[in-house]
Amino acid sequence: MKTQIITIATGLIAAAAFAQTTTNSLVIHADGGTNTISRMIYGQFSEHLGRCIYEGIWVEPDSSIPNTRGIRNDVVEALKKIKVPVLRWPGGCFADEYHWKDGIGPRANRPSMINTHWGGVVENNHFGTHEFMDLCEQIGCEPYVSGNLGSGSVQEMMEWVEYMTSDADSPMANLRRANGRNEPWNVKYFAVGNESWGCGGNMTPDFYSDQYRRYNTFVKNYGTNRLYRIACGSNGGDTNWTRVVMEDVGTRMNGLSLHYYTLPTGSWRGSKGSATQFDETQWFSTLRRALEMDSLVQRHAAIMDKTDSQKRIGMIVDEWGAWYDVEPGTNPGFLYQQSTLRDALVAGVTLNIFNQHCDRVKMANIAQMINVLQSMILTDKEKMVLTPTYHVFEMFTPHQDAKLLPSELNCEDYARGEQKIPGMSVSASVDKSGAIHVTLCNLNATRPASVTCDLQGASPKSVSGRVLTSSDMTAHNTFDQPDTIKPAPFNDVQLASGGFTTTLPAKSVVVLELK
Ligand code: AHR
Repeated sequence: MKTQIITIATGLIAAAAFAQTTTNSLVIHADGGTNTISRMIYGQFSEHLGRCIYEGIWVEPDSSIPNTRGIRNDVVEALKKIKVPVLRWPGGCFADEYHWKDGIGPRANRPSMINTHWGGVVENNHFGTHEFMDLCEQIGCEPYVSGNLGSGSVQEMMEWVEYMTSDADSPMANLRRANGRNEPWNVKYFAVGNESWGCGGNMTPDFYSDQYRRYNTFVKNYGTNRLYRIACGSNGGDTNWTRVVMEDVGTRMNGLSLHYYTLPTGSWRGSKGSATQFDETQWFSTLRRALEMDSLVQRHAAIMDKTDSQKRIGMIVDEWGAWYDVEPGTNPGFLYQQSTLRDALVAGVTLNIFNQHCDRVKMANIAQMINVLQSMILTDKEKMVLTPTYHVFEMFTPHQDAKLLPSELNCEDYARGEQKIPGMSVSASVDKSGAIHVTLCNLNATRPASVTCDLQGASPKSVSGRVLTSSDMTAHNTFDQPDTIKPAPFNDVQLASGGFTTTLPAKSVVVLELK
């Protein structure tokens, strides 16, 4: 009798759990697709802001923290594992008050300045052009340099490019040689201004376009170096900025940027929301706002299509990510925040969006790489911790330079009150070896998601997976407990005739490999 009661009770629980599972279907066209997911979509951003550069990357060569020429070894090793393809520097708002000549030559002789944008702290210029290029070489990524249009001169911008990339017998190339670097660096990605509608000069799009045309005239290609010129794009949904710059600058640029940040409350005034103390209401509002990236990309792409139907100009989302209140007790100007499972979902859905729009999105740079906003890595003196966002970037690495596979997701909504969002997000690609990778996010905080996938044009013999999840939506890694949340093997997936079936845990990011 006792056994029967237990059986009935267990059955009821199982039935309740089953009822709570959402039902979803997916079609992946493994025999289709023409667009490559540029690995540059997985780019990073490092600004002279808070403890991103100083402490996070740069510790000086004589530091007790293991380093190579002043750059932290632990950080470089971690970044190599996520295959960082490109790194944007020196800002951000800082870029438009950065004077590159302050950051070259013997470090002891470099002048200090005040970082007026970020905390009013002293910037000693010990991390400059040579140190940044060394960092890129150590990581194995491409440099993306932001030029100073806001407070710098045309000559200054012209000379920086000459300093970095010219092999001639010319003043700037010789200055670089005198500073210890004989060979020019390959610098492909170069931006002419940052947020010129705001901290970069409060310009109108017409004025900026004229400025771009003037500065860009003197930003030259030296030797075999060919610049990919990136113009300042809009603030979120300002499609008029995109229209004007597309019409006035046109193919004088190779890429046009877009900045969009996810704020739980949606407001820059007052509290943006805590990084770690939140309930399902803010979980939902954060993901709802992260998903707005999809319509933003589509709206700006539609404007770009009007004058660039061949998609020669790339959309460069060179700042994106979650922006919360700073951690209590930290400098408000340092933008230091923790990163939870919620951020893993923000990263997962956003990267899926970029993958899906890889015909137009040619680069993206999450803000920012270390100790600032939605970081990959947090540091505290000699300690380092990897965030859930880092783990998502690592899980998504197989998409880099793979072919996007067209897919159709028919998913249940995730509803809160009167609002609803898609309960899932997905993208799929096939790499050069023929392996198919599918990245899936279950946004729903409480309900698992069962998925039946019709995989057309492929008959894989095996499937394996990894999952990032937790029972706690605020789960995060700390210096004392660095492995609270990390990827785990995922076995709830089965090959089925013509595809696969799987059940994603609530609030999870999953990557599947089909071979
Ligand atoms: O990423 C932090 C800041 O956000 C950048 O400096 C600026 O470009 C943006 O407003």
